[in-house]
Amino acid sequence: MQTQYRITGGTSSGIAASIESGVRDGGLAPGALLPTVRGLADELGVAANTVAAAYRALRQRGVVETDGRRGTRVRPRPPAQPRTGALPVPAGARDLSGGGPSPELLPEFGPALRRLDPPRVEYGDAGPYPPLIALGRDRLAADGVPVEALTVTGGALDGIERCLLAHTSPGDRVAVEDPGWSNLLDLVAALGLDPVPVGVDDGGPLAADLHRALRHGARAAIITSRAHNPTGAAVSAGRAAALRDVLSAHPDTLVIEDDHAAELADVPLHTLAGAGAHWAVVRSASKPYGPDLRLSLLAGDQTTVSRVTGRQRLGTGWVSHVLQRLVVELWGDPAVAETVTRAAAVYDARRTALIDALAQRGVPSRGRTGLNVWIPVADETTALAALRDAGWVVAPGARYRLRSEPAIRITVSTLSADDVHAVAAAVAAAVRPGAAGHGV
Ligand SMILES: Cc1ncc(COP(=O)(O)O)c(C=O)c1O
Repeated sequence: MQTQYRITGGTSSGIAASIESGVRDGGLAPGALLPTVRGLADELGVAANTVAAAYRALRQRGVVETDGRRGTRVRPRPPAQPRTGALPVPAGARDLSGGGPSPELLPEFGPALRRLDPPRVEYGDAGPYPPLIALGRDRLAADGVPVEALTVTGGALDGIERCLLAHTSPGDRVAVEDPGWSNLLDLVAALGLDPVPVGVDDGGPLAADLHRALRHGARAAIITSRAHNPTGAAVSAGRAAALRDVLSAHPDTLVIEDDHAAELADVPLHTLAGAGAHWAVVRSASKPYGPDLRLSLLAGDQTTVSRVTGRQRLGTGWVSHVLQRLVVELWGDPAVAETVTRAAAVYDARRTALIDALAQRGVPSRGRTGLNVWIPVADETTALAALRDAGWVVAPGARYRLRSEPAIRITVSTLSADDVHAVAAAVAAAVRPGAAGHGV
């Protein structure tokens, strides 16, 4: 349905500002269809080029998206809105849509914070904290990453954004996993980059699809090493070899690997680092230790890392040494390591239990590693509504998809053994009405 919001303006920047304020204030909801270029131009008494320029500017900032003949729409989570995108959870319902770790399985910061006595850090002393860099180098090297240069960013997504900014310009094509992490797809749109979908199976991104994306001019590729969000894929040894083969024919491609699961991952890392001249491996502290740390290691080739640190210096400057020291403390504490190992085992058990319970009811699902289970459905809206009525809020696959098939994502982080069969029965009923009583 076309929106009732009245767009105003006589110049491209005025029209863009009017649309952006509609998005900000809610007059233009996510998904709202904008008028055609010609229709709006006639209504406002301006040239079609003026409206086209406004739409282009908004597209390059990720506020709207254009899908050929289906027209221009407000993006599902436009960067003009401060909302996190969390779904409403009705009273009494359980939220399985978040994607994050279980707060109960994260290590306590208290003991490490009590041991910290950080000195005052002056501007001149700032930058990566050398002990964190030394330990990070060892950890990454142990996982086969050929660390050339290493720095610290404010989380994985911050590191990925900085790498993209270091190597791409608006309008460039970037190969992304489809399905893929919603925040990353939103970031790619907000940077004005053109996503080229690459399919994913349990072994990681499909080599043939990456090959096609690079042939179509993709200048960068972003690949989730393990605990792929939303499907749980992890790059296997064989897939890594095949992807390296593809990349060797395009040595100028920037390859960004997102190892967000890091110490939580229960499968080995098969890195693509060094397959070409420009690469980065981003390893976040968010999932194993806590999202509020806002810290990630970023290893890469000298050019990429020096561009990232050089640009970071002109903005946030550096990641606080208080946080960097805290991560060093956490890494050095055997009790913390035990908590992380236990969390990995619990997530694995929860994921596997849900996949098995679904399979018993004839519902296929995916989730080789990580915190999520991905369940193909015929219709996301119907499945989501049925699950909400049954007391479970799950994430719509649309957030994670470009061209891939409809699905829903269930985060298992907080799913206890007692919950598993109730959720599986509700999913079975939601995806195949009439089958609820089936199985166990
Ligand atoms: C694929 C992926 N990468 C990275 C992150 C976390 O990144 P950050 O370090 O920015 O918290 C997430 C969190 O959900 C994720 O799913």
